[in-house]
Amino acid sequence: MKFFNDLADFSVSEIKELITLATKLNNHPEPRALEGKILSLLFLSPSLRTLISFQSAMARLGGGTFVVSPEMSIHGLESRSGIVMDGTAAEHIREAVPVIASYGDAIGIRAAAKGESLDDDLADREFSELTSLIETPYINMESAINHPCQSLADWKTLDDLKLSVHNKLVLSWTWHPNPLPFAVPAATLHMAALRGMDVTVLRPEGYALPDVVMEKARQAASISGGSVTESDDTKSTMKDCQVIYASSWASAQYYGNRRAEDEIKPDLRQWCIDEPWFNQAADNCRFMHCLPVRRGVAVADRILDGPRSVVIAEAKNRMLVQMALLHKMLSNS
Ligand code: CP
Repeated sequence: MKFFNDLADFSVSEIKELITLATKLNNHPEPRALEGKILSLLFLSPSLRTLISFQSAMARLGGGTFVVSPEMSIHGLESRSGIVMDGTAAEHIREAVPVIASYGDAIGIRAAAKGESLDDDLADREFSELTSLIETPYINMESAINHPCQSLADWKTLDDLKLSVHNKLVLSWTWHPNPLPFAVPAATLHMAALRGMDVTVLRPEGYALPDVVMEKARQAASISGGSVTESDDTKSTMKDCQVIYASSWASAQYYGNRRAEDEIKPDLRQWCIDEPWFNQAADNCRFMHCLPVRRGVAVADRILDGPRSVVIAEAKNRMLVQMALLHKMLSNS
């Protein structure tokens, strides 16, 4: 495997193979599988789980990691093309990224959405530019429009819950004070559709996911036999729901214009998932979220602290599926 950028680049059987390997490596550890291998981790945006789960995954397989982020005492990084660098930034990504990549056998890159240009972010322009600078195998650790490692972990979590194809997954928008990227909702929607689930995107008016995101998921559903719909009605959408996946995202309509989005937002604080949401849901309906999550904003404490929540299992699965990914990408066997 030369790169891991999008679940759409893999067949369902290849994805299942990775998940099977993740379970195998958990049950039968291989602490020397990646002895002598180094994974470079470049974080251009913040992280807790992704950073630590990759470090832990690599260490459990006998390999090593190093981390680079702008918060460290590195030279200020410039990313604009054709710029005269007479400001504060002393180094351009065009040199920095290939140098960082050259010190490892593979590189993980996180470059979350800038939230300025919808077209640029939907096209994943920054991530594509970064990966065009390197020849090393690479892993998308979250880009403007994708979070494939999260989706692989979530697929495994759905398997662990014994949720099968055609089970109903609701991807619900939740309130958040900031306009967040489309990466997680887009990746989750595509993953659930590709897994063959009946997925409904539940969101208030003004928060429909971009057409290109919906279309990609519909295409995945057409391959798998799943379905993709959308609604703004919580009560009817939650009927018979087996898993609700909460996420917050910006309004595509006001993308890059926070002030305009803020004007429509105050009415939407009721989009905080709480027990009454589950009145019509299937018994044992589960709650998923990629984390970090704002308590009392996106979801009530009693949901996160109660039996519905599987967020910790999801986070642990990040490490397990990434072990499988690294094994597949870097082991000689
Ligand atoms: N879910 C996720 O990617 O978490 P971090 O942002 O903490 O890495």
